[in-house]
Amino acid sequence: MAIARYLVCLVALFAASSLRADPETFRAFGGVPGLTRVVDSFMEELLADPRTRPFFESVDQQNLKRLLVEQFCAELQGGCTYTGRDMRSAHQGQGITMADFNALVEALQKAMAREGVPFRAQNKLLAKLAPMYRDIVER
Ligand code: HEM
Repeated sequence: MAIARYLVCLVALFAASSLRADPETFRAFGGVPGLTRVVDSFMEELLADPRTRPFFESVDQQNLKRLLVEQFCAELQGGCTYTGRDMRSAHQGQGITMADFNALVEALQKAMAREGVPFRAQNKLLAKLAPMYRDIVER
């Protein structure tokens, strides 16, 4: 039974590490003020790029930016509560392709680099967001 106990411990350890707060990454972004700067730059990029502009030009950008800051902060366990819709409901019917998704990721990468977010922290956020393509990409 030692092996069973060992396995239970291992599973508990994995569960704990995935739930663990990640203050280091949140701090690397500069907390909520840093995330707000990143999201402002991100929206500028999205509106400047002809691939993504059509999706964002006629939405309430202030509200979307507020929700993105909340969501990124929550994903990085920075102590925020995300109050927006789930990713499937928010993107349903927009006909978003994998190419659109990649263009958005590029915009976020540019914004994070411009705001001086360390590479490692950039990758942590991207790793949290990447699996969301399943609920966002429709065709
Ligand atoms: C991992 C990638 C993405 C994340 C984390 C994300 C996040 C979000 C969030 C938090 C909202 C607000 C939800 C709400 O209004 O309650 C939202 C809305 C929206 N997203 Fe995304 N999104 C992603 C990918 C995309 C892509 C690829 C596009 C199009 C190129 C897109 C276009 C939009 C638009 C147009 C809205 C506003 C919808 C509306 O107001 O009706 N998103 N997204």
